[in-house]
Amino acid sequence: MVVRLLLNDVVPGAADPGDRLGPDDLERLYAYPDVTARPWVRANMVATLDGAAAGNDGRTGSINTAADLVVYTLLRDLADVILVGAGTARSEGYRRTPPRSARFLDRAAAEGRPSCPVTAVVSGAAQVPPLLAADAPDHGDVLLVTCAGAGPEALDRARRLLGSDRVIVVGAQSVDLPAAVDALHARGLPRILCEGGPRLLRDVAAADALDELCLTVVPLLAAGVQQRVTAGAGVDRALVPRLVIEQDGTLLHRWMRP
Ligand SMILES: NC(=O)c1ccc[n+]([C@@H]2O[C@H](COP(=O)([O-])OP(=O)(O)OC[C@H]3O[C@@H](n4cnc5c(N)ncnc54)[C@H](OP(=O)(O)O)[C@@H]3O)[C@@H](O)[C@H]2O)c1
Repeated sequence: MVVRLLLNDVVPGAADPGDRLGPDDLERLYAYPDVTARPWVRANMVATLDGAAAGNDGRTGSINTAADLVVYTLLRDLADVILVGAGTARSEGYRRTPPRSARFLDRAAAEGRPSCPVTAVVSGAAQVPPLLAADAPDHGDVLLVTCAGAGPEALDRARRLLGSDRVIVVGAQSVDLPAAVDALHARGLPRILCEGGPRLLRDVAAADALDELCLTVVPLLAAGVQQRVTAGAGVDRALVPRLVIEQDGTLLHRWMRP
């Protein structure tokens, strides 16, 4: 697989436009910034050329490419926690995360980070998707991010299912996403990877909690009725391109706060 660099404003000197990139280059170019002082919220989404965030079967699997899969896996390997909306967890059949790729395991252990990224599922109704609740030995922990508005019965049910310390209640009537980010940071999970879906990404952006969007654009027109990578009431957030990579027509971007 030939991966070509088109723009690099993230690690000056690490690679130049036109260079072919290997796994070490990709790791350098996608490294999280220093998270000692503050957490970093990175989203990773994929879209077709005409903006569809899923194929006509309603799943992202049908629009993925090999290059997208490489970066998707790398971003999971680098993250402490995957923040995902309950809708996506249900429709994409999310399960507890498997261990990081072998080359990241020793480093994670040396840094005191878990061998499997944690999954934090966001549900205003405190509904834990069943596949995430299911036990999976040697797989990642699961947290629920919800709000008081879910009501005592739903909160009790979630606490019985996951354990009280795994239920994060932030906000009264709706989930307070900046408070959720702070809560994850306080738990030693500052490298946050938001995998959507469109409603959650829109809300993270609207709450001004998004530091970076990693966007894969696949060389495909899908038409149909699928959502874009954001959904919901309008927001106005400018981002600047810091990295662009190409492989077989797939464009991989890092867009950041100005
Ligand atoms: N292209 C991509 O990269 C990408 C990535 C992910 C998903 N997708 C696609 O997007 C579709 C799913 O879309 P979706 O809108 O259902 O996604 P979503 O944002 O994952 O799910 C919406 C649900 O998640 C919970 N939620 C999300 N944000 C919340 C918030 N701020 N506060 C409280 N709860 C929140 C709510 O669950 P409760 O109802 O339980 O309260 C809400 O009903 C699927 O087709 C999937 O394949 C595409």
